[in-house]
Amino acid sequence: MESTERDALTVTGLRKTFEAENAPVRALRGIDLTVRAGEFVAVMGPSGCGKSTLLNLVAGLDVADEGTITVAGETVTGRTEDDLARMRRKHMGIVFQFFNLLEGMTVLENVVLPSVIAGRRRKIAETRARDLLDLLGIGDKAAAVPGVLSGGQRQRLAIARALANQPTLLLADEPTGALDSAGGAEIIELLRRLHQAGQTIILVTHDQAVADAASRIVTMRDGRIVNSTDTSAGAQEAASTGTSTAQAR
Ligand SMILES: Nc1ncnc2c1ncn2[C@@H]1O[C@H](COP(=O)(O)OP(=O)(O)OP(=O)(O)O)[C@@H](O)[C@H]1O
Ligand SMILES: [Mg+2]
Repeated sequence: MESTERDALTVTGLRKTFEAENAPVRALRGIDLTVRAGEFVAVMGPSGCGKSTLLNLVAGLDVADEGTITVAGETVTGRTEDDLARMRRKHMGIVFQFFNLLEGMTVLENVVLPSVIAGRRRKIAETRARDLLDLLGIGDKAAAVPGVLSGGQRQRLAIARALANQPTLLLADEPTGALDSAGGAEIIELLRRLHQAGQTIILVTHDQAVADAASRIVTMRDGRIVNSTDTSAGAQEAASTGTSTAQAR
């Protein structure tokens, strides 16, 4: 499969086996997937089918046994740990179900820190962080600590942090999994807006309401992709004149 400029992600022949106590677990059994810039892909499928494994490999958090992963034309597979860390900072915004916020720092600092680590000047990082917090509707919480936020607000903070370095891919593993329905609805609305603004999003979800916001639903079973369907959101996207590459920033 040829990777083109408009492809945010190209995955070919991806395989991953975990050594378990009894028998090896073949978590990914040959995954091929291309995601164009600006797509919002929801990955669904039964528990244990390999969704998180796929996301972790794309994020460069774990290493594949076979196959290749290319993000915005750069190869993720076969890199050293240092190189991978650089790739992650440049291309990946990662959001997990359990937030991973830095509790001892302010909301603002949680978003500023990744940019400063990536080498951006603090003042610029702060301006961007404030813009993001405003965009995500928690600008008034900048000086608070994460502990005082609601679940939905915490997840929005985690998304703000993931977007701090203008990632090629926003990757999320069950971002609404720990939220009540109101909190989940907030996140869905936010994802819709980010998608409309051109952010490429790949997320794993069990939640049909989240998947309904996506432009494509990819279904996995037993370590393979068994279906890939453009949703009505995707059809609208394709019909709109001149696919926008503008980013949410
Ligand atoms: N580090 C690991 N060591 C051993 N087995 C693992 C490891 N990580 C995942 N697995 C196994 O690989 C398979 C795929 O796991 P994965 O976490 O990708 O599933 P999932 O689709 O995300 O499931 P869920 O919907 O429950 O989160 C499972 O059988 C799991 O037990
Ligand atoms: Mg999982």
